[in-house]
Amino acid sequence: MNDMMPVASRDDLSYLRADFPILSQTVRGKPLVFLDSAASAQKPEAVIEAMAQTMRTQYANVHRGLHWMSERTTDAYEGVRAKVARLLNANATNEIIFTSNSTAAINLLAHAFGDTMQPGHAVVISEMEHHANIVPWQMLRDRRGIALRVARITDDGELDLDSLQSLLADGKVGLVAVTHMSNVLGTITPAARIAELAHAHGARLLLDGSQAVVHGSVDVQAIGADFYVFTGHKLYGPTGIGVLWGREALLEALPPFLGGGEMIASVSFERSTWAELPHRLEAGTPPIVEAIGLGAAIDYVEAVGYPAITAHEAALTAHALTRLASIEGLRILGQARQRGGVISFTMANAHAHDIATLLDRNGIAVRAGNHCAEPLMRRLGVNSTARASFGLYTTMAEIDVLADSLDRIRGFFG
Ligand code: ALA
Repeated sequence: MNDMMPVASRDDLSYLRADFPILSQTVRGKPLVFLDSAASAQKPEAVIEAMAQTMRTQYANVHRGLHWMSERTTDAYEGVRAKVARLLNANATNEIIFTSNSTAAINLLAHAFGDTMQPGHAVVISEMEHHANIVPWQMLRDRRGIALRVARITDDGELDLDSLQSLLADGKVGLVAVTHMSNVLGTITPAARIAELAHAHGARLLLDGSQAVVHGSVDVQAIGADFYVFTGHKLYGPTGIGVLWGREALLEALPPFLGGGEMIASVSFERSTWAELPHRLEAGTPPIVEAIGLGAAIDYVEAVGYPAITAHEAALTAHALTRLASIEGLRILGQARQRGGVISFTMANAHAHDIATLLDRNGIAVRAGNHCAEPLMRRLGVNSTARASFGLYTTMAEIDVLADSLDRIRGFFG
């Protein structure tokens, strides 16, 4: 980040683009317009360099060696746990479990927490979940006789709290597992209210924060959540590193999930005993360099500041919604009052893949398909959508390039 930038110009974050080397490329002879950050965000030089420096100068396995490099790398790796704890306002660093991504974090919970649930109990998800927050619970249902209930969304793409409440009413729900921000609709869910409802009915709350943590600051204690997951690669960090946060008392009560090195206190052929948190839930050599990259990404995001990021993305989203709404035949899916910088749309007579292919010819990268949310596509009455998603480096000019291109390609589809 350019620390010399005057504060007055910081609500336009375009000065940060120089920190992302990949963005200065041309694609098919056009300046790259990268509008696919919800799938995976680009990485600032600080992240690339932190990972490269680790491998160049101090790389060794963590927690195992008594030598200098292992100590250095262990300190760096464990230091990231403290950064994540601060990022989420966790109560303790022990509450931060490193995983490989959000999917792995949810699967960990579906096994470890799921195994503490009794047959006949239920998990509640919502109609707008990513497959990562559906399939692990279906597998739990089939493994342990746990019911799976699905809260409805409104036609505007908001979580229907009446539906949620009615699913909680019989007191049999052990866990509510919902997104904190939809990767398709951009909807930000009322997390604190959901926590209240879940707790009032004896259920715990897991929030999938894979998108939410990118767009605004998250305070798990203020929300009143019980578990929270996110992934590094959407937060300007590398792939291969994700986070499960849980309240310490709840994590303490979880049985181990994966067995192996790192997660044990001692092993004999007769029996093994378990390490303390957080290592008990982190079997095997962890993603060391990736965690250090995530730490650099968190430093970067915090240096820019969530207030600036959230304000910038709100301005981009408002501009994009206005521009796209004026394009004939274009339908925007979801009109939630609270939303982040993710916009899904369809175009009359056009397949989403054709829209994405034609945009790509203009150097514009969007995602097209079901966005790992097939049940949501069915709920919306579509097979697929095109999706533009913004990062802190996205500019108003890029939104205009997208809108102008969509206006032009509309002609191909009659
Ligand atoms: N879950 C990612 C997305 O929404 C890959 O695109």
